[in-house]
Amino acid sequence: MAEPENPSAELAAAIEIAREAGALLLSWLPRHVTAESKGEYDIVTAADRASETLIVNRLRERFPAHAIIAEEGGGQGSSSDYRWYVDPLDGTTNFAHGFPMFNVTLALEHEGELVAGVIFDPLHDELFHASRGGGAFLNGNPIGVSRTRKLDASLLATGFPSRKRHRNLNVHFFYQLAMSTHGIRRAGAAALDLAYVACGRLDGFWEFGLNPWDMAAGVLLVREAGGCASDMKGGPVDVHGPHVMADNGAIHDELLGAFRDVFEGRIRFPLPQIT
Ligand code: IPD
Ligand code: CA
Ligand code: CA
Repeated sequence: MAEPENPSAELAAAIEIAREAGALLLSWLPRHVTAESKGEYDIVTAADRASETLIVNRLRERFPAHAIIAEEGGGQGSSSDYRWYVDPLDGTTNFAHGFPMFNVTLALEHEGELVAGVIFDPLHDELFHASRGGGAFLNGNPIGVSRTRKLDASLLATGFPSRKRHRNLNVHFFYQLAMSTHGIRRAGAAALDLAYVACGRLDGFWEFGLNPWDMAAGVLLVREAGGCASDMKGGPVDVHGPHVMADNGAIHDELLGAFRDVFEGRIRFPLPQIT
């Protein structure tokens, strides 16, 4: 399988580690892991922890001075200018139910700038990677965002958080956009949603309340694939945000307009009455 021609040491390491962690997740899949509750409906499995231990150990061996922020808390603090974001299993709920949509994702920030990102879907053997200024790739082949120009011809995706769902406003945006696009997918793995925008399978994605490990690699991928990432009001996206809207660029203004309407109470499609 083709890999990048001259990857930096960090990117090459991230690709190798993501592949190793992905293989580990596949070995856990037939065991039908028990999900433990992290609070409300937020779950974690032994596979999340095993994958995180593997990734963090590998990163420590190769880059002992770098800081590591990992979802399950196994990272390491450091005053280094380099910081890794690690989601050892993005799509835990899918994994625990045997729904075939999950991934491993790692991203590297240098002096506050995203410089490398990897998203590996081991079930479909799809490895997405990007480096700042170096383009975006799927299994070694360059990728680009879709050419869809109109929101009413677009396929979008979104997600809903596990925690504090009662405070999440997304159902309002979901309904309006479901009524005015080809459809909205909610596949349950935010990093893959972003990777799918980068390779043109989706025209756009948004989610309220993500963490940096969910979106860092995907935001870099979308940008490097020629797309656009912002917050829901068009401001710069901050991986600590925690909101993200990413799309092919061509539908960006229309999508922002649809969000502005909902934020300002202009509801084009009222919810149907239950009779
Ligand atoms: C979750 C998934 C999901 C998104 C949630 C995330 P996890 O990550 O990416 O698609 O809607 O907001 O927390 O918990 O499976 O790593
Ligand atoms: Ca995640
Ligand atoms: Ca996770």
